[in-house]
Amino acid sequence: MKIQAKRFISEKLEEIKQEVGDRGALVATSGGVDSMACALLAHKALGKRAVILFVDDGLMRDSDKKRVREELKPFGINVKVLNVQKDFFKALKGKEDPEEKRKVFRHLFYKTLGKAVKQNKVKSLIQGTIAADIIETKGKIKTQHNILKQIGIDPEKRFGFKVVEPLREIFKYQVRQVAKELGFSPRVYKQMPFPGPGLATRIIGEVTPRKVKILRRATEIVEEEIKELRPFQALAVLLNDKATGIRKGKRSFGNIIAVRSVESKDAMTASVTRVPWRILERIRDRIIKEIPQVVKVLFDITPKPPSTIEYI
Ligand code: XMP
Repeated sequence: MKIQAKRFISEKLEEIKQEVGDRGALVATSGGVDSMACALLAHKALGKRAVILFVDDGLMRDSDKKRVREELKPFGINVKVLNVQKDFFKALKGKEDPEEKRKVFRHLFYKTLGKAVKQNKVKSLIQGTIAADIIETKGKIKTQHNILKQIGIDPEKRFGFKVVEPLREIFKYQVRQVAKELGFSPRVYKQMPFPGPGLATRIIGEVTPRKVKILRRATEIVEEEIKELRPFQALAVLLNDKATGIRKGKRSFGNIIAVRSVESKDAMTASVTRVPWRILERIRDRIIKEIPQVVKVLFDITPKPPSTIEYI
């Protein structure tokens, strides 16, 4: 169901002003449509009392930091960057269980924001949690990184800030409407979803800088080559298994990349994009040529359910 974006925005600007009060708020934006919409809502509601941050945790795509800055600049927003890659890789070291990885990420993410809240002398965090995130986490499908109070974690007691979630009742396609109405470019409101814990949700097993580097490259290739189809979401995944291949005429026990592309309205269910062979072949050729560590490229043909969109 479409929403009345104009009315939604004016109601939310009021809600933000009321909930945040005069102490100001922090918004951490990854560049995704949800957190970008929140950043601009916060800026419009609070002006300089809204501090917009990019948490550079080492798990984002190469272009994300630059894109966040470029897209927010026209609105007069200066983005502060937190360089915390080392902390995140240290916390994720040796962690293989998918839910443990998600919980470790969530804890460090909020601990990092707790520090930033103190440093910036604000009291609240405005975040882009949407309805699907709440439903999936409460339904125990997976621990979405941005759910706290809905599962009994008190952010004030645990991390030292109040959480405000202006998008909690709406789904992705409705957030896109809001982002368009707010004045963002199509590059923002039409973009594919990208999860908060970033590439960590697409690495099976331990997350290391070396694996992230391989996956970041594969992700870029998939996103570039599939763009013309405008899928709901497309991604590359680094599997934990290896396979025998041949590189420079010699045996190479190398990595396996899975490619996934899905169509969906609200991310609660998804069907597989019927990607033409010519595009799959282009993706395969580029991955093999540009990432020497990879010896196999697979295409995932599983809908959601029973699969989920991400791999952990
Ligand atoms: P799944 O993998 O559960 O994903 O089918 C549904 C949608 O949610 C995104 N996703 C996340 N987004 N934090 C987020 O902000 C998370 O922890 C998270 N986990 C999954 C996923 O990319 C898809 O669009």
